Amino acid sequence: MKMVDVIHLNYLLLPVINRFGITLGFGDVSVEELCLKKNINLAFFLNIINAYHDESFFPKTDLQKFSVKLIVDYLQKAHKNYLHDSVPQIEKLIQNLVVENSYKKQNLEILQSFFNEYKNEITEHINREESKVYPYAVQVENAYETNNYNNALIKKMENYSMQYYLNEHDNIEEKLFDLKNIIIKYLPPPKNTKISNSILIQLFNLEKDLNDHSRIEEKVMIPKVVKMEKSILNYLAKNK
Ligand SMILES: [Fe+2]
Ligand SMILES: [Fe+2]
Repeated sequence: MKMVDVIHLNYLLLPVINRFGITLGFGDVSVEELCLKKNINLAFFLNIINAYHDESFFPKTDLQKFSVKLIVDYLQKAHKNYLHDSVPQIEKLIQNLVVENSYKKQNLEILQSFFNEYKNEITEHINREESKVYPYAVQVENAYETNNYNNALIKKMENYSMQYYLNEHDNIEEKLFDLKNIIIKYLPPPKNTKISNSILIQLFNLEKDLNDHSRIEEKVMIPKVVKMEKSILNYLAKNK
């Protein structure tokens, strides 16, 4: 398949493709040729693209075959995308919406406070994963592959299994739903519908992307690390 056809098939894949370092202007090359040229793992790329494109098809087992390092690298690029592109773009549009419609102070405050709460929530969620969860996941994989476990890591595994993280992995998409409803149901009819529509489209796109991202965390990365933790702890128990 040509890369151009992937985008024609589903333009929502654009940010996903960008995360692999592929930008527009790639000509008429096939997916395979482009991946080879850019040093991208073709099988991983196809699985991620398929998972995103077709929600009913989630290649959980296939994706678990790739290294935690590769999976985490993709997830980190998505985080960057949310914090540096999607969220600031929506923030700018909300400011424009308020200015264009000269909304009352009260409306403006509700919208901005909801958005700020959302921004804080997603930022905190991402910071925690970047500073604690992902480094731990990669550390467990390194230990598993090299059979090299230090006491600090074993303690961490016993006290903070990835299973705990799965249980407390919160849903950052819920607030997006409330934010959409404020714009759809509660704000006065806008003079400029274009801005409201653009905000909604961006919120729907971000929600879809986040759902897909969380699915990779919860169904691929976390179970893979839990399996490795169990295997390491079993091995240590047997060889005491
Ligand atoms: Fe994440
Ligand atoms: Fe997450």
